[in-house]
Formats: sequence, C-alpha cells, structure tokens
Amino acid sequence: MSKKLFIQTLGCQMNDTDSKHIQAELEKHKGYTATNTLEDADLIIINTCSVREKPVQKLFSEIGQFNKKKKDGAKIGVCGCTASHLGKDIIKRAPYVDFVLGARNISKIKDVVDIKGSVEISIENDDSTYEFAIAKNNSFRTSVNISVGCDKECTYCIVPSTRGDEISIPPEMIVAQIQKAVDNGVVEVALLGQNVNSYGKRFSSNREKYSFTKLLQDISKIDGLKRIRFTSPHPLHMDDEFIEEFARNPKISKCIHMPLQSGSTKILKAMKRGYTKEWFLNRAFKMRELIPNLRITTDIIVAFPGETDEDFLDTLDVVNQVKFDQIFNFKYSPRPNTKALELKEQEIEDSVGSARLEELIELHKRYLENSMPNMLGETVNILVESLKPNGEVSGYTDNYFLVFTKGSDELLGKFVDVKITEVTRTSLKGEIVA
Ligand code: 5AD
Ligand code: SF4
Repeated sequence: MSKKLFIQTLGCQMNDTDSKHIQAELEKHKGYTATNTLEDADLIIINTCSVREKPVQKLFSEIGQFNKKKKDGAKIGVCGCTASHLGKDIIKRAPYVDFVLGARNISKIKDVVDIKGSVEISIENDDSTYEFAIAKNNSFRTSVNISVGCDKECTYCIVPSTRGDEISIPPEMIVAQIQKAVDNGVVEVALLGQNVNSYGKRFSSNREKYSFTKLLQDISKIDGLKRIRFTSPHPLHMDDEFIEEFARNPKISKCIHMPLQSGSTKILKAMKRGYTKEWFLNRAFKMRELIPNLRITTDIIVAFPGETDEDFLDTLDVVNQVKFDQIFNFKYSPRPNTKALELKEQEIEDSVGSARLEELIELHKRYLENSMPNMLGETVNILVESLKPNGEVSGYTDNYFLVFTKGSDELLGKFVDVKITEVTRTSLKGEIVA
C-alpha cells in the first residue's frame, strides 16, 4: 500500500502551487498518494503563510492538534513562509515536527522528508530552473509560477524576507509546462508571481532581459489554450505597452488584480509603493477606457502607521472612482523584518483600524448591491468547470464572474452562453441559451 500524504495550505496562490509541487514530487519520488483525511496520513504537511500575524499564531495550536490526531508514526512537516521566517525555532517549540522547509526550497522536499530534524530555509536557494514533477490535474485550469521571490521593498511586507530576491523562470520552461498541461486537457492558465509584470529582469543564468508583455505573447500562441490569467501585477509596472497587450489579446481574461494598498499618496510613499493616487487612477481609467467589460479587483490595507482620517478618505475616494469588483481588505499587521516597524509610534489604535475596515466593507457592499442587478437579462459566456450536488454547474466568464446554471457533467470543459436571471453580491445565476 502506498503511503498517504495530507497537505493543508494557507495563504496565497503561490502557496497553492507550492503544495501542488510538493505533492507531485512526493508522488513521483517517494510513492505517496494524497488523502483528505488527516487520521489516515503517514505524512502531514502544513504549508504556511506569514503575511499577517494571525495565521502565524494559529500555526502552533494547529500543529498541536495535528500531533494529537495523527496516526502512530506519522510525520509532520512545516513548509512555506512561516517555515522560512521561524526556521528551526519551529522544532524547538514543537519537537514533534519532523522537518521544516522554507518557501523557496520546495525542490528539496524529497531530500528532507526522510531526515528527522532537517531544516532547509535558505532564501538564496534558486530552484527557478528545477523541473517539478507534473501534478495530476483533472481540472480545466492550472497555475504556473513564472518567478520566485520579490525585489520590492514595500515597508509592510514580510515576503521579501521569506521568499528572497526575484528570479524569473525561463520563458521556454513556462511555455513547455503550459503546453504539457494543455495536452492533458487544460484550457486556462493562471501565471503566478509576487510581482508578475516585473518578469524578465533577472534569470538564474545570464540571459537577455525579457518582458511580461512578451511572455504573454509567447503563451498566447499555444494552440488549445483559451484563457490566460495572472496575479499579482504591480500598478507601478502597468505601462502602456502592457495595458495595450492586455486589452488587445483575446486570450487574456478581462479581470485584473490591481493592488491599491492605499489611496493616499502620502501613505503610498510611506509604504514605498512607488506610485501616487493619480498614477493608480490614471492606469485604472486607461484600462477601463480600452476594455468596456473589464473587472478590477484589489487589495487594501487600512490603518497603516500614520494614516489619518484624510488619508483614509483618499482610499475611499479611489474605491468610489475605480469601482472595484472585489476588494480584499486587511487591517495593518506589524510584521518582523519590515521597515514599517520603525513607524511604531505612529501605529493606529486597533479600534480605529476596525472602524475603517468596517466602513470600507460597507461602502463596497452597497456598491455591489447597486451594480450587480445591472447584469440581469445579460447573456454571458462561461467555461463550465464544476458540477454541484444540486444539479447545477458553475463556471467563470472571461471577466471572471462566477456563474451558476442547471446542467450535468456533459457540460464540463465546454463554453456555454447563459442568460442571467438572478444575482447576488458575488455571483450570477441563469439559464443556458442555445
Ligand atoms: N498587514 C496587513 N496586510 C498585509 N498585506 C501584506 N502585508 C501586510 C501586513 N503587514 C496584504 C497586502 C497584500 C496582501 C497579499 O496582503 O494587501 O497585497
Ligand atoms: Fe503567500 Fe505572502 Fe503568505 Fe507567503 S507570506 S504565503 S508569499 S501571501
């Protein structure tokens, strides 16, 4: 009987891909198969996130629980960003942890898995040209990393210290990986990186610089690939060339993540984001002008140190002007190894942060309640991706609306037109039209 692997993944989409790689490597080299039942597992891995403090606090209580529930002799591994930042302290605090593998060291999983007490967390490790085993994929979409690490120095962010310097994965490796996935039935790819549109500045070996726009053009030449998504682009690097390619290329999904973080130029400066409120608005409006059905999602941090009521009003102003389709809201969380810790005396009272968060959430809720009914009666084209137990299927439009409709498994992987009859704040429902 094969050994069983249970992986819990927290954090961002890059962590999802890392978990997929971990699983594929352990299947190929160590004979594991995946299980969803912790109690059955011979190996339990928790792939962690350290971007905010909460998940880190939760880590130790969670692995304590895993340790109680696991079957005799099962191993526990801690991977990801918290593994990078706490390293061997994890084993000191929780001696039943068998190994610790940092976010930038995933290619070493097959080496550490059998060595009790191993810790591999170097942020200089370069696995940008490592060919990970191919994960079994029974979905119509896949995600592919295009770079590792991050060269930015946003003052609130722990990621540069957990994932190290940015290195791009060679374009031909990315194209080959997507081609293989397409040969196996995938029609949509998500390109991942901490900062995708700075792609091509540095590779692990000396080679000519490349651009994200060029990479998008290469990938869109793959026959059979229907949709390209990517996350996260940085607003600073959204130059005209990129925006024009985004608008003109029919394979690129017309939903873009534009992490605002703050609408106040003063706070953006303190965050070292490199752009102003006006630049952000200018880029968003340019895109809206070129792409009428564009949807824009964003990340916003409220209560960054020094944020006054006036600064927060600037954030609300950008939200009102850009009309984001989805907002991921966060209250500032001080993180180790970040510059913003120096602004300690300007930190905002927690109750003020909570009130600002609440106000932002309410504002956006009202916006969606007003705007979503505009979709009633519209006909949209979706790629059907999953079957629900209630006789419905669901899929996404090109601009990433989630749509439900009646249907069966015959529709999976097909594009169908749906006339919208019901809306919620986050999804649409309708009937298939011929
Ligand atoms: N505090 C709060 N939110 C943060 N993010 C990153 N670091 C912090 C922090 N210290 C948010 C940013 C980022 C998203 C992934 O998490 O908005 O875009
Ligand atoms: Fe992802 Fe950042 Fe969390 Fe690491 S710290 S898992 S890079 S969101």
